[in-house]
Formats: sequence, structure tokens, C-alpha cells
Amino acid sequence: MSKNKVLVVGGTGYLGQHLLQAFYADGNGISPYDLAFTHHSNLPPKPLLDSIPRSLAFQLDLKTGNGFEAISNAFGQPVVVVNCAAVSVPRACEIDPAAAHAINVPSSLVQWLQSFKEKNTLLIHLSTDQVYEGEKSFYKEDDIVVPVNVYGKTKVAAEQFISDNCSNYAILRSSIIYGLQTVSPVPKSLPIQASVEYWIDGALAKGEKVEFFHDEFRCPIYVKDLVNIILALTNQWISEGKQIQLLLNTGGPDRLSRVQMAEAVAQFRGYDTSIIKSVSASSVDRGVKSPPDISMDITRLVQTLRINPVSFKDGVGLTLTAEAKQ
Ligand SMILES: NC(=O)c1ccc[n+]([C@@H]2O[C@H](COP(=O)([O-])OP(=O)(O)OC[C@H]3O[C@@H](n4cnc5c(N)ncnc54)[C@H](OP(=O)(O)O)[C@@H]3O)[C@@H](O)[C@H]2O)c1
Repeated sequence: MSKNKVLVVGGTGYLGQHLLQAFYADGNGISPYDLAFTHHSNLPPKPLLDSIPRSLAFQLDLKTGNGFEAISNAFGQPVVVVNCAAVSVPRACEIDPAAAHAINVPSSLVQWLQSFKEKNTLLIHLSTDQVYEGEKSFYKEDDIVVPVNVYGKTKVAAEQFISDNCSNYAILRSSIIYGLQTVSPVPKSLPIQASVEYWIDGALAKGEKVEFFHDEFRCPIYVKDLVNIILALTNQWISEGKQIQLLLNTGGPDRLSRVQMAEAVAQFRGYDTSIIKSVSASSVDRGVKSPPDISMDITRLVQTLRINPVSFKDGVGLTLTAEAKQ
């Protein structure tokens, strides 16, 4: 029996790897999907390939569209495409705005989907909370978007492009994603672990104070919750076959500053929280403008998918407990 084909674009990134493993494990050992994923700058990592046997890997450049033909020939039209590929580091977008725009606005991907006779692929696209200006708390999806940096601008352009050109899509405005490291470790520092290993542990060892921002607010989301949101949308499309046009804030339930995030980690570890020094974000030049408060209202997510993301405190506990068992 043929299985539903799912393609993860950007499958080698942080979210992409978590997602591939979840799609693979969704059927208790026998994946209910035919899986494929794309990689860009490097060969697909062996630990990832070993963890999702029989999946197909394709090299793809979203900038040029090179690679889509090979996917059509060897894999065919997917039922669901999840686009996790992006220049996801805001500072990198400031350095090369043209490249950021060409990759983050997935025009080659949308054109490829439009080339199929049957327009029945669901596109799940990852956007960001950085589409919001950051001047108030708990943004709703219908609030005006005013991105303050190139990253946010490319993501707004991507949302517009998708809603103008696709009839079956879900756009997920994600907050900071945190959780376990991936099966093939990604090079960037992870929000919780970086704090523990570098900031908090390092500072404890040295007996020094460490600085965190008190005036930037986010609603971090536990990676498994984001994965479950994507699985739920996939299953909804496959089982109901009703076209989707959805824009969702995908964050956790808590509005937190970096100080509060560090305190949650320190409390779980049993560290002395007095080493956490509260500073203003304006005290550091990060080479990119960062919106102060882009906390999000997730009512639509909870009501539409009946998924309640875990609190940051619980997500920290789940992450660090799972990490200790590895
Ligand atoms: N992580 C977060 O906290 C966070 C927060 C909000 C929103 N998001 C959004 O969520 C999505 C996933 O984030 P992530 O952290 O998993 O990203 P990531 O780890 O940076 O992964 C990015 C992926 O994009 C691929 N890629 C880069 N350039 C490409 C190109 N020219 N053509 C095709 N693929 C290319 C990379 O492939 P190679 O590695 O093989 O080059 C990698 O697989 C992104 O859209 C990001 O903007 C992330």
C-alpha cells in the first residue's frame, strides 16, 4: 500500500531534524509516511540518515530552485511539504539581505508546487514572532505586522507570497524554539543548554555574575509542541482533505524575559539565582535591531488544534531530564 508522502525542506536544521524523527516514529516503528528531506550546504549527516531509515535526501537550493526536478523524479508530489529552511539568524540577514530574501521567501518552492497538475499539497511554512514590532504584549494574528529587522521583513514577504499564491497552507509564527539537541548536532547554541553550559554553569564555576536582558519578552515554545502542531495539521489534511488557509501564532503560554528564562533554568538545576544580573537589551550592540516585546496570544492555536503547549518551567524540566538520560 502506498503511503502519504511528506517532504521536509530544511530537514538538516534544528526543527527539521526533530520533525523528521517524529514523522518517522509516528507509526510505532513503521512510519505511516514516505519521508524525504532536503539539505543544502553539507551532505546529509549520517546520524540523521541512520535514525530515519528508507527516507530520501535531496540537495536543494531555494535561491535557485536547483534540486526540485530530482525530487519530482525520484519522490514525486508530496501530500505535505513542511518548509523549515531559512536564513534563521537575524544578524546573518542584516549582512546579506538579498540572499536572506531569496531563501526566506520560498518562491521557488511555491512555483514547484504549482507545477503539479493536482493542487493538493498542504504547505506548512515556518514564520516568526519577529514579524511583530514589539511595542505591546500578546500580539494576535490579526495585529498589524511591522518588522524591525531584515529577518522579520523577509518573513512578512514570505507570508504574503504564500497567502497570495497558495490555496492550501498553514503559516506558523514561531517564537524561540527550545528543547533537546538534534540527533546530528546543529552548530548554533540552543537557548536552554547554552545558558546552562556556558552562562550559568560557567559563571557558577567562576563564582561570577552573568548578565541577561530584563526588557525583551518572548513566548518560547518547546520543540516537541511545535512538532505536534505540525503533525496535527498534517493528519488533519490527510484525514479530512479540506483545504487549509491558516495563520497561527505558535508560542508557549508564558511571556518571559531572558532573566526569567535563566531563572527557570537555574531553579531547575538548583543554582543560586543571585548570580543572574539583570541588564537592558540596549546595553549590547548585537548588530541587528531586536523587537522588545513580541509575546504572542496563542488562543487561536489552542482553539483550532486543541494543543496546549507546556509551560516554560515544564519544558525546561523535560529538556534537561531527557538530556541527562542521553
Ligand atoms: N530556531 C528558532 O528558535 C526559531 C524561532 C522562530 C522561527 N524559526 C523559523 O523556523 C524555521 C526552522 O528554524 P531552525 O532553527 O530549524 O533553522 P536552522 O537550524 O537554521 O535550519 C535552516 C535549514 O535551512 C536550510 N537552508 C539554508 N539555506 C538554504 C538554501 N539556500 N536552500 C535550501 N535550504 C537552505 C539549512 O540547510 P543546511 O544546514 O544543509 O545548509 C537547514 O536545513 C526557520 O524558518 C526559522 O526562521 C526558528
